[in-house]
This record gives sequence, structure tokens and C-alpha cells, in this order.
Amino acid sequence: MTEELREFERHNKAPRAFLVFFFALIAWGVYYIARYTPEISGWSQYRVLEKETADARKAAPAGAMRENPYEMDPKAIVEGRVIFGENCSGCHGKDLKGGVGPDLTAHLKYGESDDKKYETIAGGRPNGMPSFEAQLGRERIWKVLAYVDSVRERGAKP
Ligand code: HEC
Repeated sequence: MTEELREFERHNKAPRAFLVFFFALIAWGVYYIARYTPEISGWSQYRVLEKETADARKAAPAGAMRENPYEMDPKAIVEGRVIFGENCSGCHGKDLKGGVGPDLTAHLKYGESDDKKYETIAGGRPNGMPSFEAQLGRERIWKVLAYVDSVRERGAKP
């Protein structure tokens, strides 16, 4: 570099706005790393997920959904069939025609709307119908219900 050029550059100061931006960016970077490093701030994606899940539960308590999201969904019905075999057929029979528990292809005294049936399975009923909310969770309750309904309403093979 020639002397003149060096002299020229010496007078060419970095613009103030650039310096502000530059240091702000560094500060933000340090903050960001500290904020999202579990060892420093205790932040954890699992904790975030837990909190979001809890909030979502509060916002929409199980059963708040009034219609079965899996109705007529063939894949869910197949899953529901397996869930039924593992959790329900012991009392309601493999063919849903009843045993210890009532016939599920007949009239349902606790209600036949999606939300009533959901309530029955999630919360249980007085004379021996257990609550499945904790054991199955919302998605699987809707799936088993989609299966039960496929047998009830469309006369599908159990
Ligand atoms: C321990 C035995 C038992 C198990 C396991 C069981 N049920 Fe029941 N279920 C019953 C009994 C008994 C009743 C009748 C309750 C009443 O009349 O108060 C019933 C009632 C019901 C009803 C309501 C019937 C009506 O007339 O409204 C539905 C729907 C139902 N069960 C679905 C299921 C599903 C789905 C599962 C599996 C996730 C299941 N049950 C598992 C015993 C059982």
C-alpha cells in the first residue's frame, strides 16, 4: 500500500451508524447464546414444549372438541381397532356386542353424539365404565371412537 493510500484510509472513519449496528449485533449474539444455552440460562426445548402442551391443554380441555376429527379416517379406524382390542373388548366383546359392559352397537344411554361418547370414554360412567383419559389420551380416544362408530354406523366388520 502506498503512503498516500494509507493516509487516505486513516481519515476514512467508519460511519457511526455502522459501529452502533456492529456492536449491537455482537451484544445480541452474546445475549442469544447465553439465553438459549441450557447450561447458562436453564432454557430447554423440552421445557418449552412442556409449557406449550400444558397451555394448549388449558385452552382446550379434553372433550372440548365436539366432533371426531378421525371420523371416516381409515388409518385412524385401523389404529382404533387395535386400541379397542387392547382396552375395551374384554368388557364390550370383540364384536362390540357386549359382555360385562353393554352392547356398543345398540342405543347408547349416555348419549350418541361425538362429544357425549367422548365424555363416556374419557371420564368413565358410574356402573363400571372406567375412565380412559389418562391411559389413552385424547387422540387415541377419538381413534377408538372412530372405530366403534365405523362398526355402529356403517355396519363395518368389527
Ligand atoms: C372394565 C370393563 C370395561 C372396559 C375395559 C370398558 N368398558 Fe365401556 N362400559 C363398561 C360398563 C359396565 C358400561 C356401562 C356403564 C353404565 O351403564 O353406567 C360401559 C359403558 C360404555 C359406553 C356407554 C354405553 C351407553 O349406553 O351409553 C361406551 C360408549 C363404552 N363403554 C365404550 C368403551 C370403550 C371405547 C372402551 C375402551 C376404551 C371401554 N368402554 C372399556 C365397562 C367397560
